[in-house]
Amino acid sequence: MPSLAGRHVLSIADFSRDEILHILATARDLAARPRRDLLQGRLMATLFFEPSTRTRLSFEAAMQTCGGGVIGFSDAASSSTKKGESLADTIRMVEQYADVIVMRHPRDGSARLASEVSRRPVINGGDGANQHPSQTFLDLFTIAGLFPALLEGAPLTLAFAGDLKYGRTVHSLLTALHHFPTVRVLTVAPRGLEMPEHHLAEAKAFGVTVTPCASLQEAVEEADVLYMTRLQEERFPDPLEFDHIKASYRITAAMLKSAKPALRILHPLPRVNEIAQDVDATVHAHYFQQAGNGIPVRQALVALVTGAC
Ligand code: NCD
Repeated sequence: MPSLAGRHVLSIADFSRDEILHILATARDLAARPRRDLLQGRLMATLFFEPSTRTRLSFEAAMQTCGGGVIGFSDAASSSTKKGESLADTIRMVEQYADVIVMRHPRDGSARLASEVSRRPVINGGDGANQHPSQTFLDLFTIAGLFPALLEGAPLTLAFAGDLKYGRTVHSLLTALHHFPTVRVLTVAPRGLEMPEHHLAEAKAFGVTVTPCASLQEAVEEADVLYMTRLQEERFPDPLEFDHIKASYRITAAMLKSAKPALRILHPLPRVNEIAQDVDATVHAHYFQQAGNGIPVRQALVALVTGAC
């Protein structure tokens, strides 16, 4: 396996199946045998131009639990962007301060732009409605942990539900599934929020079948993994349209009565209304464990791109 040292993590599409499996295996090792000094002497900059809880905190926790340091901001208003500094200039500074840059930004393609002016690896923590590759590594880590036979080519049905138009986590995960063609993909989305055509065409070209479901209930009954997402309110061009759709889709414990016993529900979080609280106590709920997997997965990513392992 060629080293991943110095690699930017901009889109999951930039990674081969072998590289993805190597990152997952490294994360598994770190989860089983934590290495408290793995990132000692290294510094991470977290530049968050858009709100985040899990992504920023788990990158920072990943770094600190391996002995590394963190600088950064969680609100663009507290950075020089407020004074009119360009993103490229901000990156030209930060790459001199830190060994690795994790950035979240509302504009599609901003992480790639940052990588063009940085000699340090840039990890995309989410760019607009485009990509969220570190979330995808942790989603794959979670799915492979629940259904290990998938890695040997066993079939699996994964249903994407919710805002498939603006949700970057589903775009990234669908791209990753190109490497796992035994996954049958179902989709269920409120009208107008279906998966964009170019993602569907790309999936098809890679041999991944994507089938729309008639209802959320049908997806619940067919799926092994139900990947729920919230409506991306901040990316809706029209607030009235948002209010109209908001109430239309929600999963409750009662709806899970006819699910497969092994069904597991994932969600990148934050959840808003789309998963009722009574689902949390069912055996199907797995979203909080999924969020916990962000630590070993992000430790692995940072260690690999900084050349620490
Ligand atoms: C996701 C994101 O930011 O795209 N959150 C996350 O990173 N876990 C999902 C979302 O905000 O809906």
